[in-house]
Amino acid sequence: MNKKRIKTELLVHDLKNPIAVIEASADMLIRNAERENPLTERQTRALARVLRNSRIAMSLVNDILEVGRSGEGIFNKGTYRCFEYIVFPFVEIFDLIDPETAERISRIEGYKDFAEILASQGVRLEMDAKLWEKEIFLDIRKVRQIIRNLLSNAFKYRKKEIVIEISFDNDNFFISITDDGKGIEKGYQEKVFERYFQLGDERDHCVRGHGLGLAGALVLVEDMGGRMTLESEMNRGTKFSVSLPSGK
Ligand SMILES: Nc1ncnc2c1ncn2[C@@H]1O[C@H](COP(=O)(O)OP(=O)(O)OP(=O)(O)O)[C@@H](O)[C@H]1O
Ligand SMILES: [Mg+2]
Repeated sequence: MNKKRIKTELLVHDLKNPIAVIEASADMLIRNAERENPLTERQTRALARVLRNSRIAMSLVNDILEVGRSGEGIFNKGTYRCFEYIVFPFVEIFDLIDPETAERISRIEGYKDFAEILASQGVRLEMDAKLWEKEIFLDIRKVRQIIRNLLSNAFKYRKKEIVIEISFDNDNFFISITDDGKGIEKGYQEKVFERYFQLGDERDHCVRGHGLGLAGALVLVEDMGGRMTLESEMNRGTKFSVSLPSGK
């Protein structure tokens, strides 16, 4: 591994410390408030958000380090139920755009609940309800990371709707995420998977990131022996499809 990469990884790694301090402090204030110092409802909610987001920041840092490990061929496969792969990325995304919805999703009781909350946010979930509890053998951190990145783009670019399709067949886990946004021109459909590539559109400044999400997600998919494809039509929308082999 080259020195520059090790140094970058070390910086990311060292972010864990301040994040852990933020998390512990928020946690302490909340507990303290329960015992002796009552807070107003607004203060309690703000602190809960600090706590939740410090945890998200920590999981992002872990994800970054995980991409590095993935490059080294390290996997952490395990058996998890289907919903455990899917629900968490939505909590993370909504925490940024609509914390109340994030809270509701983090308290869902099952498939129906989840699908209803998503529907109220313009997200259609298409999956067989029987799949919800199915046990699937995959590296859950990586799968969540892939889903989060595709979702983050879909939320950035959608006009109104996002459709999530989930299925499982022959030991393969399939997920597709479709938005109804402006689409990606044919000539750029391969380029969007390159690191730091972003389509240059002045109007996009407000939604700009780093051009890393798709490149990273593709590396993870390929490392897991899976495939990611994209179909898009200008002004109609974009569909990203991922298949991941989950055999033991
Ligand atoms: N669903 C989509 N609809 C239209 N364009 C998209 C979509 N997803 C990605 N793109 C285009 O591909 C580019 C690369 O996407 P990628 O996720 O890698 O980076 P980003 O979202 O710009 O930044 P980051 O993910 O690092 O925050 C985007 O800048 C955008 O131009
Ligand atoms: Mg992105």
